[in-house]
Amino acid sequence: MDPGAGYLLGGIGQLLTMKGPSGPRRGALSKEIGLVEKAALVCSGGKVVWSGPESGLPSHFAALEYHDAGGRVVTPGFVDSHTHPLFGATRHGEFAMRAAGADYEEIAAAGGGILNSVRATREASDAVIEMNLRDALGRMLALGTTTVEAKSGYGLDLETELRCLRILTRVRGTVPQTILRTFLGAHAVPLEFSGAPDSYLEFLGSEVLPAVAASDLADFVDIFCEKGVFTPEESRRHLLAAKALGFRVRIHADEFHDTDGASIAVDVGAMSADHLLSVSDLNIAKLASSGTVATLLPGTALFLNKPFPPGRKILDAGAAVALASDFNPGSCFCESMPFMVTLAVCACGFTVEEALVAATANGAAALGLPDRKGSLVAGHDSDFIVWNLDDYRRIPYHMAVPDIGAVNCGLAVRNTGESFL
Ligand code: NIG
Ligand code: FE
Repeated sequence: MDPGAGYLLGGIGQLLTMKGPSGPRRGALSKEIGLVEKAALVCSGGKVVWSGPESGLPSHFAALEYHDAGGRVVTPGFVDSHTHPLFGATRHGEFAMRAAGADYEEIAAAGGGILNSVRATREASDAVIEMNLRDALGRMLALGTTTVEAKSGYGLDLETELRCLRILTRVRGTVPQTILRTFLGAHAVPLEFSGAPDSYLEFLGSEVLPAVAASDLADFVDIFCEKGVFTPEESRRHLLAAKALGFRVRIHADEFHDTDGASIAVDVGAMSADHLLSVSDLNIAKLASSGTVATLLPGTALFLNKPFPPGRKILDAGAAVALASDFNPGSCFCESMPFMVTLAVCACGFTVEEALVAATANGAAALGLPDRKGSLVAGHDSDFIVWNLDDYRRIPYHMAVPDIGAVNCGLAVRNTGESFL
């Protein structure tokens, strides 16, 4: 078939449209999945043209090429709004060290951790970095992720940061997913600036950020605000400098310690504050009364054996919450959004519906794409998953095993099992 020509996917047992207002969903809206039973979806040219109950299908669509979903569940593709897939090598050695009792922050303080990946990435050829990126994107696609935010941050020098962002920019034109690019030069202080975070940020602000902007290599700028990495004040300055250059900003905040990172996020108007394992009650309230999305990464807490982020508390406070994988070689080597949905339900107090909204519509809002991604309503990209399931509650219920039949990214279709098209 030619997916550009228009087709009708009928016989959908449950369609999760995620219909709702444009922008982050909070409060009562954070569990609105827009469920339609016995549904149909009409797509053309990579866009949703119509969705709703099959009984209400406008007659002029009836002539379109028909595909039968056989009573299965259809959801929007996942929006993974926080990943680090640009690296030279994996860090399974550190994983084994942690399993034997070492601590993530101790390993980092001893020159491992992010700096370990920086060494490997600087030494890696473009081909190796590209292969690692493509491998991750391929696995993400098979797991239903149709929109990916990808960060640099394992180069930490002008040459390697630009090299990684160039590879990402090139690869994004060749994969079915929609890719957004984030410059995370402020991920750690590299060895050549050891003990001088201020000078490193000065270098980023005067040389690297302007080069990234001039070559149009990133959509967002991010910083790791954490005890022993960058302070809240340094983070504020860096993100404001990025905004002055026209970037939208996001922040790694309150991951291991409460450093007031979430407060900085709101002050600078960040799209999202991410991690939040140690966020204070005061800053949960501040996030709730802001437009900044609280992005939770429960895979990282599991992988590092840290306390899970207080999802229930953040949802109940009225913040808009997104879920993402944090896929990276150190703190979470997992691309699976279905697994993040299970973790949010089993370990962070989300309902099934809240977790699904967080992994789709609110991920899209966190990336500034609420009108294009994360929902299956007219005008949105036709990014969807056909699940080999008859009830959406079985998505997180089948822990770590995604029952996916097919994944559609706009015009590109990837069948993972039995074909529906
Ligand atoms: O989001 N927290 C900072 N950065 C990454 C981990 C990076 C690494 O360990 O390589 C994160 O978890
Ligand atoms: Fe991260």
